[in-house]
Amino acid sequence: MDDTRQNRIYLTGFMGSGKSTIGPILANTLGYGFIDIDKEIERSTGKKIIDIFSELGEGHFREVERSVLLEACRLNKHVISLGGGTISNQSNLDIIKSSGILIYLKTNTEQIHKRLRRKTNRPLILAKSNGVISDQELTKRINELLIQREPYYTQADIIISTDDRKLGITVDQIMKSLTPFIK
Ligand code: S3P
Repeated sequence: MDDTRQNRIYLTGFMGSGKSTIGPILANTLGYGFIDIDKEIERSTGKKIIDIFSELGEGHFREVERSVLLEACRLNKHVISLGGGTISNQSNLDIIKSSGILIYLKTNTEQIHKRLRRKTNRPLILAKSNGVISDQELTKRINELLIQREPYYTQADIIISTDDRKLGITVDQIMKSLTPFIK
């Protein structure tokens, strides 16, 4: 393996899979820095993600996301929490896989549903008016997106299930799985 890949640990997974919560804890445990792609997008544009989607569209959001990824992939010794859709094109996935170790936090539809219900800050699970959608519609959207994205998520180097697990246990599992990758 390219030795420099251990300098960047990427976290991927569906919205609500715990990337932004687990990322800083993992970074602390490894003695690495931490960066969250979504927060970086909001910082660099001065806009909330929901406003970028409504004012400029998803296409524009994906362009900003890619440019933030291109900056992040040069950082040394960092844990990088991706957005749930960052890996959903092969070219972003190639950048990620060639520059670091990719961990997929796998969560089932039921758990995702529980965690995302009533959340109003994720444009892809809101109505056009930015209102909350019905439970049934939410399940449908989660399943549609998961079907599109699983082929990308599952290209991760490490897959960790986060269903019903305490945070500390998930972080321990990640640390064990990282051992062969980090010298
Ligand atoms: C998105 C996930 C969000 C954010 C944006 C789009 C997606 O990030 O990047 O709303 O396409 O799944 P989280 O996965 O951190 O919620």
